[in-house]
Amino acid sequence: AETSRIRNFSIIAHIDHGKSTLADQLLLKTGTISERDFRNQLLDGMDLERERGITIQMHPVTIYYTRQDQVYELNLIDTPGHVDFGYEVSRSLAACEGAILLVDAFQGVQAQTVATAFLAMENNLTIVPVLNKIDLPTARPEPIIEEMETAVGTKAEDVLKCSAKSGLGIMEVLDAIVDRVPAPSGKQDNPLKALIYNSHFDPYKGVVVYCRLFEGTIKTGQKIKLMRGNTTYVVMEVGQFRPKMQPCDTLIAGQVGYFMAQIKLITDVHVGDTVTDSENPTETALPGYKEPQPMVYSGLYPINNNDFETLREALSRLKLNDSSFTFEPESSDGLGFGFRCGFLGLLHREIIGQRLERDCEIDLIHTSPNVTYEILTRNGQTILIKTPQDVPDAGQIEEFREPIVKINFLVPTSNIGDIMTLCAERRGFYCRTEYLSTTRAILTYEIPLADVIYDLYDKLKSVTRGYGTMDYEMLGYRPADLVRLDVLVHNQRVDALSVIVHRTTAERRGRKLISKLREKIDRHLFEIALQAAIGTRVIARETIKAMRKDVTAKCYGGDISRKRKLLSRQAEGKKRMKMVGQVDIPQEAFLAVLESD
Ligand code: GTP
Repeated sequence: AETSRIRNFSIIAHIDHGKSTLADQLLLKTGTISERDFRNQLLDGMDLERERGITIQMHPVTIYYTRQDQVYELNLIDTPGHVDFGYEVSRSLAACEGAILLVDAFQGVQAQTVATAFLAMENNLTIVPVLNKIDLPTARPEPIIEEMETAVGTKAEDVLKCSAKSGLGIMEVLDAIVDRVPAPSGKQDNPLKALIYNSHFDPYKGVVVYCRLFEGTIKTGQKIKLMRGNTTYVVMEVGQFRPKMQPCDTLIAGQVGYFMAQIKLITDVHVGDTVTDSENPTETALPGYKEPQPMVYSGLYPINNNDFETLREALSRLKLNDSSFTFEPESSDGLGFGFRCGFLGLLHREIIGQRLERDCEIDLIHTSPNVTYEILTRNGQTILIKTPQDVPDAGQIEEFREPIVKINFLVPTSNIGDIMTLCAERRGFYCRTEYLSTTRAILTYEIPLADVIYDLYDKLKSVTRGYGTMDYEMLGYRPADLVRLDVLVHNQRVDALSVIVHRTTAERRGRKLISKLREKIDRHLFEIALQAAIGTRVIARETIKAMRKDVTAKCYGGDISRKRKLLSRQAEGKKRMKMVGQVDIPQEAFLAVLESD
């Protein structure tokens, strides 16, 4: 390969705007795949993603494009299409010199696309704006080109129009990649410097590392070093994705490909890390490395406690291919033995949950998600709180901090009032409104992550009837008046029922919790006191009266959620109870409290 004829690019697009279809067309039109092999959405990665109809991350691919007897090497490195994977997005962009900004000619610019496009521009990428689906009778190219101009500053004359479905305008897209995206600038003679932007685990070959070379070369037999952990390996194979893995002799500065070096664990490979030659190392690592930080935690408990070990094995298998997912054993009074799992966000949590249920066929209880908090203790320590059970007593807390995100909503202007109400209810801090056109606007808020994760997305979709989109980025931890709200049943604290709440909402939450609980616990021979308390201060109280002779057991009715159905199927008539003190609490009661609503 000749460096001046390499182009590295990614496609930035909102879900369903046609990213996979365009990628497939690029392969087809360049003969990378034959018409015969061509099947829809070739590059869409895993089955699960296809089932959900969204692409988390496509496979990278090297395309050879011949124009006027010149062969160009085009490397398509995709960016994951969801906010949960923001850091992976930033590393994938760091591996490119350009990005196609693909926008649906009917739907227009969406919040996530704007955010990723800005990220690309901050990384000095050349943006190639492309309007897709111009074959649609409903396409409205002019207003949308204007929106793109307002939202991300693209020039109207630079916008290409294509139909990834019919193949119209695809050659123009290829030409624009060659003509507009700069060639990489590194030198082959310099010491090796490569960015790890992704990896996957192959059961036969070990970890396959996806890399972009900035300087130097990498070849089989070479001794390399991963700079973050200072670990050394010998390269066993290097190659390119075409689109299947195809070995080659050497990768040079500017190229994109993979290598394998008998790395056993995916946790030994870190996205964003720098690879160099161990004998002739580069002086400085590439900038921008970050540890993946789980943002959302929740408990996973097997419904049948005997499945604990099976669950552990299943989680370990998942971890082989996803190093951003974490888990550690925990036990709870109410739910028995399970695991506290950390996720990048709610979509990540949902995907892991679905994979688990499919792969290991264990029925699981997912406790409601919570974010991580920081606590500065009186003796000057900062501790990270992953579960309400970790919160120390109030007397030991100097400062309680919660994660805050900056959130952008892209909504019809007629919904601005609704969004403002939603945010006000969630302790949102208003930043600004920016009008893209007379009908659409971007609203920016700073808002506690805890208030975002529960239901904000669903609420946004419902108030905007599907037309609103949002994206958020982490700003950091800020002090807030938070408390741990405990639940006492017959004077005994039940750990699995504790929640972290803002002091101003504690009373309302406490009352709701207790009244839900009252419905779920049967009468006993004695009176049972239910209390919600902050420290020693009781803020809500109810009692379950003692059983009278003429009272038969309470019926369970009303709305039955999927989980509870699952539970009752599992229990097959006999209800699982947990004794707390002298009180039998049905597992249902825990779920009722843990489920957010
Ligand atoms: P995710 O995988 O969810 O990220 O979506 P994507 O951006 O990869 O979109 P995909 O390529 O799966 O296309 C979404 C839908 O739009 C599919 O039903 C495509 O057939 C359709 N589509 C893609 N491009 C065009 C186009 O140019 N015209 C028309 N009419 N439909 C298109």
